[in-house]
Amino acid sequence: MAAEKWVYMVTAQTPTNIAVIKYWGKRDEVRILPVNDSISVTLDPDHLCTVTTVAVSPAFDRDRMWLNGKTKKHSCEKSVIHLVTESVSYILLIENLEISLSGSRYQNCLREIRSRGGDVEDREKGVKIEKKDWERLNLHIASHNNFPTAAGLASSAAGFACLVFSLAKLMNVEEDPSQLSAIARQGSGSACRSLFGGFVKWKMGSKDDGSDSVAVQLADEKHWDDLVIIIAVVSSRQKETSSTSGMRESVETSLLLQHRAKEVVPKRIVQMEEAIKNRDFASFTQLSCTDSNQFHAVCLDTSPPIFYMNDTSHRIISLVEKWNRSEGTPQVAYTFDAGPNAVLIARNRKVAVQLLQGLLYYFPPKSDTDMKSYVVGDNSILKEAGLDGENSVENLQPPPEIKDNIGTQDQKGEVSYFICTRPGRGPVVLPDQTQALLDPETGLPK
Ligand code: DP6
Repeated sequence: MAAEKWVYMVTAQTPTNIAVIKYWGKRDEVRILPVNDSISVTLDPDHLCTVTTVAVSPAFDRDRMWLNGKTKKHSCEKSVIHLVTESVSYILLIENLEISLSGSRYQNCLREIRSRGGDVEDREKGVKIEKKDWERLNLHIASHNNFPTAAGLASSAAGFACLVFSLAKLMNVEEDPSQLSAIARQGSGSACRSLFGGFVKWKMGSKDDGSDSVAVQLADEKHWDDLVIIIAVVSSRQKETSSTSGMRESVETSLLLQHRAKEVVPKRIVQMEEAIKNRDFASFTQLSCTDSNQFHAVCLDTSPPIFYMNDTSHRIISLVEKWNRSEGTPQVAYTFDAGPNAVLIARNRKVAVQLLQGLLYYFPPKSDTDMKSYVVGDNSILKEAGLDGENSVENLQPPPEIKDNIGTQDQKGEVSYFICTRPGRGPVVLPDQTQALLDPETGLPK
């Protein structure tokens, strides 16, 4: 390495994912090896993603990481975003929070990826790194989620996947996405599924070293692009029991978890793969809903019991169940992770519009909330729902299919906001330097 002043960096974007056959329980806590296979849908990163910039320089004296987008209430005018939280609309200042990398999950990912680093040369910048240099060179990492952290929206999945993917690009690692998934898995289990777009399976594997516990793509995002996903963010608060400790307690105490892992999930995995392959929405819905409900049943079967869903979650389930039954064939699938948020998958755009109308009728925003901040993501759907102009939810009539099926319109403020999205692509490098989160001269957060 000749000139010692350079900073070499890469920025990448990685999606989050939602499991439709759940991972719940580890057989190895350190390597993060699961007790069953799982299947997920990758969500469009335009609406939900993590962006991470990783940098290396001989001038860095230690590995450091910042979470950009840590938010706090502030009236300052520079660098502000407008975010709707549970009931209030705040002006928030984006700040950079340095976090510790000493935890074993970070350390395991960094060690694994460093050991696979290759030679890197950028003549223009005077950068020349040899394979062996990665062990001693220090890294700067900055990461940002475009959605609330720990709101039950699988932020750790996108976060660890993005860390591993961006470092692999920076270090010229030759491994394929499945091999990278085995590294991301050691940061957070569900992260391994975010290395691919579309429909993804995490194979539990059988080896003790975890080398065969990897994610594989079942189908890309174009395979079933009729699907529309609406997420009801029921609460933006920190989850009460983390997935990690919740699943540990379930493994220790729930007999239902043992039965699920041995007898139930293996059959469901085969059926779900078939449903995805054939775009069989009826089977897809039946399997997703039952599997989500069984995962929450395992949580109840845990001692002490874990409650992730709340009354609003249950009301949303009733709405969807009754609608599906009245139609004769399933229109909408639901699934809930370790929190009260509902992830609703509509069979097509027309159904999604009806679903949104029904949701807005039963879960209207507080009176002073602007519709464009109540329905975020792909909110072009508001136009189709007749809610982009003067029309307000007060004038909204729920579609006849949904009307009269659930209680009255009295759920104001129970849903913080909705995110409209779809199945999406896997990780990508962002070549545009202006999107980098670290300063190209100093390697410090912008
Ligand atoms: C309910 O991947 O967050 O979302 O491996 O301990 O980091 P750790 O857990 P995590 O668990 C996710 C559980 C889930 C179901 C799923 O995504 O499959």
